[in-house]
Amino acid sequence: MKNIVVVGTQWGDEGKGKVVDLIAPHFDIVARYQGGHNAGHTVIVRGEKFVLHLLPSGIVHAGKRCVIGNGVVIDPTALLSEMDELAARGIDFTGRLHISNRAHIILPHHLALERTSEQRRGIRQVGTTLRGIGPAYEDKIGRRGLRAGDLLHPERLKRQLEEIIGEANDILQMRGAEPIALAATVDDLLGKASRIAPFVTDTALWLNREMSAGKSVLFEGAQGTMLDIDHGTYPYVTSSSGTAGGATVGTGVPPTAITGVLGIMKAYTTRVGSGPFPTELTDATGERLRARGHEYGASTGRPRRCGWFDGVVARYARMINGLTTVALMKLDVLDDFETIDICTGYRLHGEVLDAIPHDAEDLEAVEPIYETLPGWQSSTVGLTDFAQLPTNARRYIARLEALVGCDIGLVSTGPDRHDTILRADSQLAGWLT
Ligand code: GDP
Ligand code: IMO
Ligand code: MG
Repeated sequence: MKNIVVVGTQWGDEGKGKVVDLIAPHFDIVARYQGGHNAGHTVIVRGEKFVLHLLPSGIVHAGKRCVIGNGVVIDPTALLSEMDELAARGIDFTGRLHISNRAHIILPHHLALERTSEQRRGIRQVGTTLRGIGPAYEDKIGRRGLRAGDLLHPERLKRQLEEIIGEANDILQMRGAEPIALAATVDDLLGKASRIAPFVTDTALWLNREMSAGKSVLFEGAQGTMLDIDHGTYPYVTSSSGTAGGATVGTGVPPTAITGVLGIMKAYTTRVGSGPFPTELTDATGERLRARGHEYGASTGRPRRCGWFDGVVARYARMINGLTTVALMKLDVLDDFETIDICTGYRLHGEVLDAIPHDAEDLEAVEPIYETLPGWQSSTVGLTDFAQLPTNARRYIARLEALVGCDIGLVSTGPDRHDTILRADSQLAGWLT
């Protein structure tokens, strides 16, 4: 049995897409378990770039079967345009895409509500991707959401939308925003429903049957631990469970079936949107990280905030997700730094903390405690052998392993599949044999 969760350990954009693409050939099925098209997972195949938003990154592998689990929220327009775009690039979906009948649907009022609530928050806005993700999960938890399975019953869609949109329009009107036109929404959704329906199925049942037949599953997380609705920097988070536990709830696969958790960790830290970020560098060094790392959002194009590696976050991610191994990404971005800082702890009002504060204002106020390591100042771009790494790069990696308390089984040295060091004696290498 081999069922692995790939999880972001920081604030997203760690390089999950690259790793999923790299290891997907060694699994039978790739499943997304939460989030929606707020995600942007970049995969580079023989120089050709794909950015996956809603579809699992395994979709670029011919024949690989993929699941959009019940924990995902689906914008029908975004799904169909992503599928059309990929189809135009030669990707065939026949018989290989399975969409959960329990996944919730993003509707126009979700986008409208999100715009008004972000506006109302003013300087405290979350800085969301404005894709309707949060409000769609609100309707799910509020027990009034529309699910993909409902698209199989066009005859009742009008009544369902009347109820859902009626309630949303009351709120929109109270906020002085334009109400959503019901008839146009029904027509639009009916058209899209007929295209999506053939892919909709009971994916929990399907996945469990496949697993019983000995098939292996790679669970692809979106966002990251610090954006998790429960464990992240609330309220500056997304609205789903991107941590490893989300994989079971978000697909209907039991926790006992998960055999390993692979944490994806950037060699430094980035964050898009608002909220606390203790190691953020707002100076020229941060700018240098952004420029070298091309740190601009894969979904929204927004510049990512950049800073040093945060060992407190990494340790927390190891605990919350039960990481069994780590992939360290974008090491090459640090190549020409003279010195590199690592945050090993936080100080709050003079006291050293032994855990991440739950309160965003406290996290905003912490002072990182730094340790400075010498840089290696030579190129690691494209290296594939651990022994070829400069001594100081190996020292940096060893220090991170000690801080995180977990082996680093893979080191990424560039965006391409081949720019990868797989450590032969690692747990990760064992999964790929
Ligand atoms: P994800 O959301 O976790 O899948 O990550 P994104 O795709 O949003 O962002 C990661 C970015 O870093 C993408 O542009 C990748 O092509 C790129 N990338 C991934 N690994 C490496 C690496 O080791 N080195 C460099 N320079 N770029 C990388
Ligand atoms: P991947 O999967 C980085 C951030 C947004 C915002 C917050 C809430 O590519 O790593 P939302 O639209 O989800 O309600 O926004 O979460 N965010 C991401 N940041 N990577 C992502 O996905 C993200 N998805 C959402 O910027 O701060
Ligand atoms: Mg991304």
